[in-house]
Amino acid sequence: MKAPLRLVVVISGRGSNLLAIHQHARPDSYEVAGVISSRADAPGLAYARAQGLTTRVVDSRSYSDRTAYDAALAEAIDAFAPDLIALAGFMRILTEGFVKHYAGRLINIHPSLLPAFPGLDTHRRALEAGVREHGATVHYVTPVVDGGPIIGQARLLVDPKETPAQLAARVLALEHELYPAVLARLAQTRQQDAPA
Ligand code: GRF
Repeated sequence: MKAPLRLVVVISGRGSNLLAIHQHARPDSYEVAGVISSRADAPGLAYARAQGLTTRVVDSRSYSDRTAYDAALAEAIDAFAPDLIALAGFMRILTEGFVKHYAGRLINIHPSLLPAFPGLDTHRRALEAGVREHGATVHYVTPVVDGGPIIGQARLLVDPKETPAQLAARVLALEHELYPAVLARLAQTRQQDAPA
């Protein structure tokens, strides 16, 4: 058996996807090698510490520009020597240089069925557009924000009477199944590709 896929999870806030990812980590699948937060007060960071995970804060307010921030972030990521970097509620736009450097190793979860509703406030926009289906997408990160190749999606039927908050809660529950499932699939593919 090959070693588990080494994952770094990058967060900015609540960290509920981090929690779901961590709870589904298995020695024959993937492991959370480290957690990086762009905010020192992210609730997800407290969870990571309580679980004994190795954490780093790369505080966005400490860097004068995006290039300097991304260089510091890359240094923190590389210190964990990860196979894959999973953005989970990371609230910053990354520079093109950073994204290209990690091409194929950088993934993100977005709360809509991409390519529908890239950007923010997806649940309200989905309700206003009157779509029948909504959901979440895990995708590779490319320089086009929320535009990279799709790895997996989870969908639900929209109730036109529900509020954006209600819809958000239902989509978030889907995210917590989708992200670990996609990671397990990527880890499995890697195992199969390993030399016998
Ligand atoms: C999720 O809805 C995710 O799709 C989006 O940001 C939110 C993060 O939530 N990118 P959490 O921090 O994982 O709880």
